[in-house]
Amino acid sequence: MVSRVIPVDPFDLVIFGGTGDLARRKILPGLFRRFCAGQMPPEACVVGAARADMDTDGYRAFVGEAIAEFGGDIANDTENLGAFLQRMSYVSIDARGEKGWSELAGLMREGMVRAFYFSVAPGLFGDLAERLNQHGLTDADSRIVVEKPFGRDLATAKELNRDLAAYFDEGQIYRIDHYLGKETVQNLMAVRFGNMLFEPLWNSQYVDHIQITVAETVGVGGRGEYYDKSGAMRDMVQNHLMQLLCLIAMEPPSKFDPDAVRDEKLKVIRALDAVEPHHIVRGQYEAGEEGPSFREEVNDPRSRTESYIAMKIGVSNWRWAGTPFYLRTGKRLKARCSEIHVVFKELNHSIFGEQEDHRNVLSIRLQPNEGMTLGVTIKEPGPGGMRLVDVPLDMSFADALGADGADQTDAYERLIMDVIRGNQTLFMRGDEVEAAWAWTDPIINGWHTRGDVPKTYDSGSEGPVDAVQLLARDTRVWRKVSS
Ligand code: BG6
Repeated sequence: MVSRVIPVDPFDLVIFGGTGDLARRKILPGLFRRFCAGQMPPEACVVGAARADMDTDGYRAFVGEAIAEFGGDIANDTENLGAFLQRMSYVSIDARGEKGWSELAGLMREGMVRAFYFSVAPGLFGDLAERLNQHGLTDADSRIVVEKPFGRDLATAKELNRDLAAYFDEGQIYRIDHYLGKETVQNLMAVRFGNMLFEPLWNSQYVDHIQITVAETVGVGGRGEYYDKSGAMRDMVQNHLMQLLCLIAMEPPSKFDPDAVRDEKLKVIRALDAVEPHHIVRGQYEAGEEGPSFREEVNDPRSRTESYIAMKIGVSNWRWAGTPFYLRTGKRLKARCSEIHVVFKELNHSIFGEQEDHRNVLSIRLQPNEGMTLGVTIKEPGPGGMRLVDVPLDMSFADALGADGADQTDAYERLIMDVIRGNQTLFMRGDEVEAAWAWTDPIINGWHTRGDVPKTYDSGSEGPVDAVQLLARDTRVWRKVSS
């Protein structure tokens, strides 16, 4: 199966923070991939803007190195690389001063889609928005792209929303949550709303509980300073896991349109119950073969920040009341895997007499090896009588769809193309982000007020043992963390 690549309109994209880590690892290699695929048109231009003193030739060399390091299979496409680098230029700019702005204005062309990527600390969002306006660089069709973290609590998120709203309409603001750009995350919506099979069963009458796991093997590494102020709750749950929960729990939108989808997600966030302290387990990894302990990595022997969190969440609406959502995410775990498991209820009557617990589980694997598995119960082969056994109906997207099923288009490149197309469906709206913080804040404040200390867990394990208890108390078990 060959996926269709429809070129986007020619654009001018300015990357503030153009020499930063995200630009190097994701944005620039992603743009190059879109260029090679014919989706980024040859007339498009990219301007790196940052404080560093560099000229365009220096920036082109920088971009070339980023692609060599992070471009994967396209890194050696020298022919395209030459043409791509010609589309790059660089401006040394001061977000809070005058330096570089008129030079930047001189690079902007009429008649192009104009987008500004704020790949900088959130403290600069307001300054950049103001400068762009002051220098007449934007019009009603210009777009800005902002990165997470979008605030660190409700108050700061509101402040950021206010700063941006002073110069831009909501329809011009693209708040990135890169999880929404992952192929399989979008597939969640296709599976739910493109099939007759699942939707009638998608409620508390048939679903016993839902598990969402995002496990990572990496530690916090060089990001200790940021991470110690953030922790798994702010870094992963408030955004990525919350988005996954929304896509699983939301009502069908009337159409696949940005506001229709985001309205439904917002309703889910607003229906989340406050979480009881005993429904949360926080953890910190210990030193192991994989590296130093969390406290060593964040350089604070008394840090109370969590590198792991597991929680039980109730959704108080007609569809989900009574069906808990169990979420967990952590660093330095046994395997890297992101999975969602929809665990259906047991049959209310078995015609086969006493049997072990058999139930259907729909497992959606986001990474690695994207795919879906439906656990079904069949007869155990052989003459042993009517004994039942669970087998997986397995669909790896790579096997089912050929090379394109394994299409590794990175979330960022997909989302940047959506910005140029002017499609906000996979971006968070301001009220959605605020609602997520409104739910998160009391949880974090509670830890501080009570002085909660995270449990420790071994590097390379499945997390703290207390997390097992969290489900065991409800006579449930976590699915294994495996790659
Ligand atoms: C980022 C977090 O948003 O997502 C990181 O800040 C985390 O801490 C990363 O490692 C995980 O993303 P992915 O795409 O590798 O699952």
